Amino acid sequence: MKSNPLNINTYRGLGNSNKNILRIKKFLLKLWRFPEVYTFIGKPKYNYRVNSIRLKIWTSLCRINKNFDYIYNSSIAKSAKKELYKFKLEDAKSKNINEMCINAKKFGFAYIEDFLPEWKLEKIKNEFLLLDKEDSSYLDYGNKVRCKLVSDDMLYKTKKLDDDYINYFKDDIAKIALRLLGKKIIVNEVTMQRLSGSDKKQLDPNLITHIDRFIPCIKVFYFPESIKFNNSPFGYNPYTHLITSDYLKAVKSSFKVYNANSKDPFTINNTLNSSEFAVTTKGNCLVVAITNGLHRRMPFTNIENGNRNTLRFHFYNGYNKLDIVTGCIFSSNQ
Ligand SMILES: [Fe+2]
Repeated sequence: MKSNPLNINTYRGLGNSNKNILRIKKFLLKLWRFPEVYTFIGKPKYNYRVNSIRLKIWTSLCRINKNFDYIYNSSIAKSAKKELYKFKLEDAKSKNINEMCINAKKFGFAYIEDFLPEWKLEKIKNEFLLLDKEDSSYLDYGNKVRCKLVSDDMLYKTKKLDDDYINYFKDDIAKIALRLLGKKIIVNEVTMQRLSGSDKKQLDPNLITHIDRFIPCIKVFYFPESIKFNNSPFGYNPYTHLITSDYLKAVKSSFKVYNANSKDPFTINNTLNSSEFAVTTKGNCLVVAITNGLHRRMPFTNIENGNRNTLRFHFYNGYNKLDIVTGCIFSSNQ
C-alpha cells in the first residue's frame, strides 16, 4: 500500500518558507524512495507509457543484481510450476532465520513460531492491552495512537513502540534483509497495529489481492497471538514472487486498467494460478513475505467481532533507489 508520510495537516500553522521547505523535502523523499508500483502522470495514455518505461528500467536493473537471482531466474520459475501443487502451509514453517530465508526465497513467504522468549512476548501482549485503553474516538496522524475507521465495523489502531522493542527484532531483521535484499537494513521503527472488525461491510482495500511493487520487496510481521482462519490472517499465493515474462506482462496489462484515483492497491493476474494460503499460526510468530508476490489481508469471517494484533516492519525507508543501483555493481549470491 502507498504510504503517506506528510499529510495536509502537516502544513497547517506553518509560515510560507517552512511550507516550501516541507514540500521540497517531500519531493526529494519521493525521488529517493524505493520505486512505487505505479506513478500517476495525468492522461491515461501517458500513464501507461511512463509506467511501462519505469517497469523496464527498474526490472533491467534488478535483474542484474545477483541478490535477486532467486526471483528472476527462469529455471527456478520453471521448476516452481511443477512444485506449486504440492505446497502445504507447513512447508513455509521454519526453525530459524537461516531456514526462514531459504523458505521465503523458495515460496515467497515463511514463518517462525515461538520466536521470542516468553517474557518479551508478555511485554508485547501487555502493550496491546494498553492500546485497548487508548482513546479511539479521534483521528490523529501525529505521534501516538493513530486510529482509522475503515468502515462502520472496522477500526485500525496503530502506535509506534519504544526503541526497546526494536532491539527484540533488529538483528534478525537485519539478517533477513541482507539475505533477501542484499542490504543489512537496521529498522528504526516498529509499529503495532490492532485491527478490530467483523464480517460485515468490510471495505478495507487491503482485502484485495495485490502486489506492493513490481520489483523485489519484503515485509516482516510479528503476530503475538494466534491467528486463525476467521480472524483475518495474512494471505499469500506461493511462488507468485517469481518475476517471469508472464508476471511482467500481467503488470503491464494492469497499468492499462489501474485507477490511480481509487484507494485500491495494485493487482495483477495470478499467472501461475496458485491458490491462496492463509498464514494461520499459533502466537509468537514472525512472518516474512516477499510482497512483489500476490498477497492480502484476508477478511474476518466470524459472526463475532474479531481482533488481529500485529507488529509491522517496513523497509521502504531503509532501502532506496540508490541501493538498487549499487546492488547491481556490488551484489553477490547470499
Ligand atoms: Fe501489501
